[in-house]
Amino acid sequence: MFTHAIARRPGKNFAQGLTTSFNAKPPQYDLLCKQHETYLETIKSCGLEVTLLDPLPDYPDAYFVEDTAVVTPDVAVITNPGAKARNGEEDFMAPVLAGFRKTEHILAPGTVDGGDVLQVGNHFFIGLSERTNKEGAAQLGRILESYGNTWAAVEVGAGLHFKSSVNYVGKNTLLVTADFAEHAALSKYNKIVLEKAEAYAANTLLVNEHLLMPVGYPDTRKQLKVLGFDIIELETSEVRKMDGGLTCMSIRF
Ligand code: GLY
Repeated sequence: MFTHAIARRPGKNFAQGLTTSFNAKPPQYDLLCKQHETYLETIKSCGLEVTLLDPLPDYPDAYFVEDTAVVTPDVAVITNPGAKARNGEEDFMAPVLAGFRKTEHILAPGTVDGGDVLQVGNHFFIGLSERTNKEGAAQLGRILESYGNTWAAVEVGAGLHFKSSVNYVGKNTLLVTADFAEHAALSKYNKIVLEKAEAYAANTLLVNEHLLMPVGYPDTRKQLKVLGFDIIELETSEVRKMDGGLTCMSIRF
């Protein structure tokens, strides 16, 4: 069970963050804040106490806090984010997490983004992406192993992060894009495979007995329903314009 989450308010300059999603409509700050607020209220309603941090003016992507740390029951591993523009956000997260856990650090030349790290019980998948390199994955893997966990590195391929394409939705089941449907590293798990048109819904977040999913993916919703969890649909239009999703906006533990 998760009991805590850390999140950060988006700053007014959020649209200067990194994005590969080009939209006819530019992202709207007021709407983003409204969606972020609803997200926070939702995770609180799922039983989490939220520590809410202020925006970081020099880091417009900093409300995507997930990338700055990997937190287990034993340790908070402070990452070394792989995008130059985001590297440094982790320095502001380290003292916050030090209040909750012993901290360890990923060191250069290793890079890791938390969005590439998926925990399933005491096993961790570490995606190798443009943000997370082999050295970073190996450092993180060694730290996790030292606390009794196992890990496996997986090439991310298309998509920003591993969790853009694969997430754990409970009951030994992974929600995956078609690219990961037959992946050998995931063979132990049942899989719900997303329709191509619904691939964004891969970024669905399990919080205790609740599944938070982006609104507008009816086929995925129908398939998730069989798991028997409470499904909560959330608007994510503005974070999506900034290549973000539901898992990115909090660190849960
Ligand atoms: N805008 C989210 C990221 O690129 O990290």
